[in-house]
This record gives sequence, C-alpha cells and structure tokens, in this order.
Amino acid sequence: MINIPKGTKDVLPSQIYKWHYLESIAKKTAEAYNFLEIRTPVFEHTELFSRGVGETSDVVTKEMYTFLDKGGRSITLRPEGTAGVARAFVENGLQGAVLPFRAYYLYSAYRYERPQAGRLREFHQFGAELYGASSPLADAEVIAFAHSFLRNLGLKEIALKLNSIGCPECRKTYQEALREYFRPNLDKMCADCRTRFDKNPMRMLDCKEETCKKIAIGAPKMLDYLCPECKAHFEAVKRYLDGAKIRYEVDPSIVRGLDYYSRTVFEFTSKAAGAQGTVLGGGRYDGLLAQMDAKPTPAVGFAAGLERLLMVMEAEQVKIDPPEGVTCYLAGMDEKSREKAFLLSEELKREGISCETDLMERSVKAQFKYADKLKAKFVAVIGESELEKGEAELKDMRTSASTRVKFEELAQYLSKR
Ligand code: HAM
Repeated sequence: MINIPKGTKDVLPSQIYKWHYLESIAKKTAEAYNFLEIRTPVFEHTELFSRGVGETSDVVTKEMYTFLDKGGRSITLRPEGTAGVARAFVENGLQGAVLPFRAYYLYSAYRYERPQAGRLREFHQFGAELYGASSPLADAEVIAFAHSFLRNLGLKEIALKLNSIGCPECRKTYQEALREYFRPNLDKMCADCRTRFDKNPMRMLDCKEETCKKIAIGAPKMLDYLCPECKAHFEAVKRYLDGAKIRYEVDPSIVRGLDYYSRTVFEFTSKAAGAQGTVLGGGRYDGLLAQMDAKPTPAVGFAAGLERLLMVMEAEQVKIDPPEGVTCYLAGMDEKSREKAFLLSEELKREGISCETDLMERSVKAQFKYADKLKAKFVAVIGESELEKGEAELKDMRTSASTRVKFEELAQYLSKR
C-alpha cells in the first residue's frame, strides 16, 4: 500500500461535519462584513510568491513546493492566499472598479515544513483581504472581522496581539538600529540570521533558534522608531479597537513571517493550541502591489489555519453537533421486497427525504443493526404480506412504536417527522 505523503491529512466522511461547521461560520461572518468569496488557482508562477511574499521570508527561501511544468515554467503551489488574491485583483481590473474591494477565501495552502501537531505541509486557511483603504478604520474592521469569526466559533481563550512595524521610511532607521544592536553578537547567531542581518534584520526577531531568540530579547522596538504618520495610524487603530471593546495586547515581538507587511500586524493566539499557538495572523500590506509592478493600492487582511482552529476547538471543548441520521431505512425481507424497498426509497429521495436500503443482502435482523448504526429515525420493513397489502411496517426507532403506512403515503408521513 502506498501511504499518504508526510504532513498531509485525510478528512473522513465521519469527521467532515466539523469542517462544514467551521466553513459555515466563516461564510456567515464574512457575509456580515460583506466580504464575497474569491477562488484563485492552487498554483501560480513562482515569481508571484518570491516577489510578493518576499525573498527573505522562510516561506519563500525554504518552504515552497516549486517545480518545472512540462512547458519548463517554474510553478509553485500557493504557500498562502494573499499573493494570489493580489494578482487576481490587479489582473481582473478591480483596481479601477468599486473600492474598497473585499474578498474572502477558504482554501488549501502548501508549505514544506517539519510536520507536527498543528503544522502540516498541506493545510487550509480561511482568509480575508480588503483593498483600497489606507484608513486605520480598515485595519480595525479586518481585526474585528477576525475577532467575530473566532468568537462565533465559540472560542473563548483567544488573545489578540497587536503591533506596528511602520512604513519603509521609518523602518530604515529602525533596521539600522537593529544592525547596531545585533552586530556585536552576530558571530554567535545562526547562519540564517547572518544572512538576514544584511537583507532584512527584522527577520532576526522572528528566528526560532534558541540562541538567536535569547540575543533578540533586548533588541530595540519598532514602536519607538515609528514616524509621526505611522504612529498616528497605530494610535487610531488602537482607539477604534478600544471603542469596539476588542481586547488586545501590544506586543512588539510580533513581526510576522512574510515580507509584505507594513504598519499594523496582528496575531490571535490560543493557549489551547500548544506549541503552534497562532491560529490567525494578518496585517496591512500597502507595498505589495507596487512590489508586483502594479499601481500601489493599500490593503489589509488576515488568514486563519483551519486545522489549528479545529485543534483549539477540541481543546476548548466547543461542541459541534454531528449530523442527524438518515430519516428512513427501508428493509426488505426477500429479493422481491428488496426491489420494492429500492423503488420506494428512490421516490422518497426525490421528495428530499434521506433514506437507504439494503445493498448487502443482509438478514432483516442485520439490517436493523445497520439501521441503528446509521441512526435511522425510522425503519420501514417490507415482506411478502406488506407487498400484498401495499403498505410498510414502519418502526419509529426512538420510541420503538410501530405503525402501518401505505406505500403511497410514506413520503407524506415521513416528511412531517
Ligand atoms: P501566516 O501567518 O503565514 O499568514 O498564516 C496564517 C495562519 O495559517 C497561521 O496563523 C496558522 O494558523 C496557519 N498556518 C500557517 N502555516 C501552517 C502550517 N504549516 N500548518 C498548519 N497551519 C498553518 C498568511 O498566510 C498571510 N497570507 C495572512 C494574511 C492575509 N495577511 C494579510 N492577509
């Protein structure tokens, strides 16, 4: 047998209701915020991500599933949703259409990471992107959307961490300050950090190596280097969140793992998620479109990891109701009555009544056992005498009461239950 590739998971029919619950809450929340769904290809030209997500991010340097297609083009499975949505937004002429543009997506993403609980190579995201507004109200709206989504899921132990990483202008001064801070310890830091030192020292704040983490503790904070405009923007975001009664903690260590961010960045974390505590992350990315040679347009968005959310929901014991069982199981005693059960079940299904009938040539006793496993609400038994009289012996599985119902009245009878 060939096994499933490392870092991927099957979702079995018995578990799919949890995903449907998650997806339905995502869609309902998106509707309330008037975000419409967007679908983009699972693969894109590699350059979209290397330019968009950024040459210094771990996602681009280490984690992309990249291959040459038969035409010799370099193709990459999307490691996240933002770059693809940005491309679609520009390519479909939406920059010139009604703004702000709001879109959400529910789809898979691929990163070649070391798999562990809550970290997969194929995972799924619920994400939202808002284009065209540089107002801090847009940041507040997107954060409030993310917050509502998590609250609507029934999660309680979620914390919002907020930071501003400024604009390219104020970041220049900050990066110099960081270099000055790290320079004396550079030889003790990992090879990646030594490269990051030249290319993007802010990435050094996000390093997962223990030694680097320790050295980074006393590093200067971006918040002390914000230019007046970025500072005013951040203060307004905080004021709007305060007004909306969304609790947050300003955490200067939030720098996010992707290169496109500017100004507001945020993460929602859960203690229940264990080591992979971030269930949702996002921020403003006003520079992304320019990076892709398109007309600059301000943007802000977020994405949540669905597998992580399911883990957290389980840990917080959020109850998701499993689907109800089939309405009626039609048991046939012999070949002829099995055929009648099949024909009747087709009529019932046409009326939208869920039912099943025997395909396994089981005894009636075994059919009852099976109907029990299906959590069937009713079992209609058909044998020789039922065929003769044109009626079924209908057993209510919850009360064990039995009644006889004419074949032609079965649909009407069951549709009322
Ligand atoms: P991200 O922080 O890379 O941001 O991912 C968002 C969320 O996806 C994470 O918080 C986590 O829950 C989930 N996630 C990421 N990697 C994995 C993995 N290997 N296994 C399981 N779950 C994972 C983004 O992707 C940005 N595009 C978010 C965004 C949208 N920013 C602006 N707009």
